Parts: sequence; structure tokens; C-alpha cells
Amino acid sequence: MTQDELKAKVGQAALAYVVPHTIVGVGTGSTVNFFIDALAGMKQQIIGAVSSSEQSSARLRAHGIEVLDSNSVAQIPVYIDGADEIDAQGYMIKGGGAALTREKIVADIAQKFICIADVSKRVDTLGRFPLPVEVIPMAAAQVARQFEALGGQAKLRAGVVTDNGCSILDVIGLKITDPLSMEREVNQWPGVVTVGIFARNKASVCLLGTPLGVQTMMF
Ligand code: A5P
Repeated sequence: MTQDELKAKVGQAALAYVVPHTIVGVGTGSTVNFFIDALAGMKQQIIGAVSSSEQSSARLRAHGIEVLDSNSVAQIPVYIDGADEIDAQGYMIKGGGAALTREKIVADIAQKFICIADVSKRVDTLGRFPLPVEVIPMAAAQVARQFEALGGQAKLRAGVVTDNGCSILDVIGLKITDPLSMEREVNQWPGVVTVGIFARNKASVCLLGTPLGVQTMMF
């Protein structure tokens, strides 16, 4: 099976977690695109979606699914999104598509985070994938220096401006053995908007696409 076929399978499998007559939280990325396309088949059964990026909002609207403002929604049952890495505890690295801040906001509104990913995303320790960090542009160099002190090397993602008008640093060389404390620590650095460690908002369930079928991991 190709990676896209695995992504399509988990996108389809995620429909089982959509709660009828509610608002669905929708993430961003190539795996989520498969989910959005599958969701179109049950659009009459949901109220609408809260989305984590302009990209996903456009795709949802193209399918005739209403996109609601996150500020108008107090709670949603599920948020369905991909990941760049996920470990055995459900901790994740996200932000490869630069949408991490809005992803964390929608995940925070949701009762459950359903991660959809192909098996290449499953790791023992987070940190092989460059850690995305959204920063206020004037803080980029200082935040990069802070990462250097931790043994990481941060590089500005060239030509990328997030939906929030900010920059992305990608940090390599980190071994994230304690995701909760690193998320907490980096979030406190001045100028950091969001760090792409999803530990506080970890996955509740991961639907992992493998050549043998979709494996369900519960956390
Ligand atoms: C977007 O900012 C990311 O968090 C994505 O969810 C993540 O990069 C996974 O994307 P793919 O599904 O395209 O691999």
C-alpha cells in the first residue's frame, strides 16, 4: 500500500468517531484532506466544523460543510487531525503544515483528540522530525539561541507566514524525553506563540494506518 492509501484508510476510519448532530473539529494536512473528503459523505448528519486552517476551511466549504468561528463554540466532542510524530503515550509533534497554533486551540476546545496517521509517524521518542515552533518574527533569533542552549539547532522556515502572521522555526537535534515539561518550558519563552509539542493536548485515540489495516491505539 502507498502512504496515500494508508492516509485514505485512516481518514475514512475517523468517520466512526464523528458524533452526529454536533460540530466536528477538523485539523490540517494531507491526511486530514482525506478525512474531509470522507466527511462530505455525512455532511447532512453534522452541524458543521471548526477548522484549524484557512486551507482546511476552504476544502470544507468546497464540500458544502459549514465552517463555524471557534469563538462561537464552547465545546466540541472530537477534534480529528494528523501528526508529524506520535509516541506510545499519545504525545505528538505537529506543525509540519505550519497550522500548529490553531490546531492547539481547536484541540483545546475538544473533549477528545483523534489522531489519524500512517505508520511512518509512530516513534519511540519524539524529536526525529524537526520541531515546529511558531514565533513572533522579532523574537526568532532569541528563541533560536534558547534552543541552542538545549542542544538544538533552529532554522527559520523560509517564505512561510502563518495564518496568524507569524514565523516558524524548525528545530533539529532535540531528544524530547519529557514532552510535557518541554512544552511547558518553551511556551514560557517570550515571543513563542506555540510550540509544536502536543503533550497537554495529547491524542485520546490514534488510528494508525499500517499495511495490515488500521490499528487503534487508546491513551
Ligand atoms: C499541520 O500543521 C500539521 O500539524 C499536520 O497535522 C501534520 O503535519 C501532519 O500532516 P500530514 O497529514 O500531511 O502528514
